[in-house]
Amino acid sequence: MDDTVPLRRVAGASVVDFDCASADSAAQSLDQWRALREQGRMLWSSRYDGYWLVTRHGDIRDAFRDWELFSSARSDPEVCSLRIPGTAGRRLLIPEELDPPQWLPYRRLISEALTPRRAAAMRPRVQHWVTHYLAEVVESGTIDLVDDLTVAVPAAVVLEWLGFPQEEWRRIAMAWHDVAGYAPGTPEFDAALAELGWLDVRIAEMVSERREHPQDDFVSVLVHQMVDREGIETEQVEALVRLAIAGGVETTTSAAVAALLHMHHHPEVRRQLQERPDLLPAAVEEFLRMYPPARTHARTVTRDDEFAGCPVSRGDRILLSEVSANYDEDAFPDPEAFVIDRAPNNHLTFGAGIHRCPGAHLARIEITEIITQVLATIPDYQVVEKDVVLYPNWGTAGGWTKVPAVFTPS
Ligand code: HEM
Repeated sequence: MDDTVPLRRVAGASVVDFDCASADSAAQSLDQWRALREQGRMLWSSRYDGYWLVTRHGDIRDAFRDWELFSSARSDPEVCSLRIPGTAGRRLLIPEELDPPQWLPYRRLISEALTPRRAAAMRPRVQHWVTHYLAEVVESGTIDLVDDLTVAVPAAVVLEWLGFPQEEWRRIAMAWHDVAGYAPGTPEFDAALAELGWLDVRIAEMVSERREHPQDDFVSVLVHQMVDREGIETEQVEALVRLAIAGGVETTTSAAVAALLHMHHHPEVRRQLQERPDLLPAAVEEFLRMYPPARTHARTVTRDDEFAGCPVSRGDRILLSEVSANYDEDAFPDPEAFVIDRAPNNHLTFGAGIHRCPGAHLARIEITEIITQVLATIPDYQVVEKDVVLYPNWGTAGGWTKVPAVFTPS
């Protein structure tokens, strides 16, 4: 045990020396969380000034749901506390970094815009963009499943819905992709950070333009409903637009690539889905369970209390792991196996409770359409494994920087 950790914090919990930001691959992340689950429901890590680790599906779900005990809000206005270690930056993620009651008006608007019915109405645009981007490569016989398809499609769908002009989609999506895909300190990462600075300027311009000249897009809805009707500051609307882009673009990319890679490694799954498209909805859930793009989220304890058999204290930090929940042997029999029709499949890839992802319906539609059209248009694609590049870090977000593939041109 680390002597420097105060005893009150470790009562009832084992202390581990776990660096949640250290995993450099999906496999390493899975190994780490499996070992932690074996050690207990609640663990105390001595890293980063100490924090709780919740390892089991039921407890992680309950912690996500208990927003009164586990706050998403910042304690330090300069540090986002949804990650461990916290990430410096002044700009709030709205509504993710707000607790009720401030959270509600923003959440209501974004939820209403992305209900199952509204998301279903976006399916023709999703189909259009998948067809469009596949058509650009189909005669060549080569594709980067990331750059050419799974970055391009979610960017087109979300940025068109928001109202950004088409010539900016790629630039915006690549900025988010490169921030996740390259290690801090590399020239690519620094260039992507600079691009995010440009994006902030563009978001501010868009919000101001739509105020003057509303169009048929979601930024216009936000400006009209929130700034004009509810008197909410323009800056908060800009923050909501920023999170709609950040949440809507890169996570969907990672989930779709994971499914395509899985079918490359498991031709029997590819065959089954070609022969039985009716299995696709359940298969998409299983892809989402096995490859959660957001691997962890953090919260801050709001009062002295008890959780999962351990005393927690106001101000403690706590890490909830989507990946550990999704691989919990007690919640998912044979969790490391891909079970194409797994039921029930209560994975936590989209979180749980009040902050549960409002984009989940749209994300499922995008992943489904990408798989469907890939299987129809380039059915024999083979990933060039030696050229695959993973994100450098799988602690908080998992994904692939490059996944080149070849196929029979048509
Ligand atoms: C596979 C794709 C996606 C995954 C895995 C994902 C995952 C998540 C997770 C885990 C949360 C909860 C975070 C927390 O509890 O702190 C979340 C929240 C959120 N997501 Fe997603 N997301 C995806 C796609 C999308 C899309 C397509 C959009 C929008 C177009 C979106 C917008 C948001 C927003 C605005 C929030 C904050 C909600 C709130 O705080 O009430 N996401 N997402």
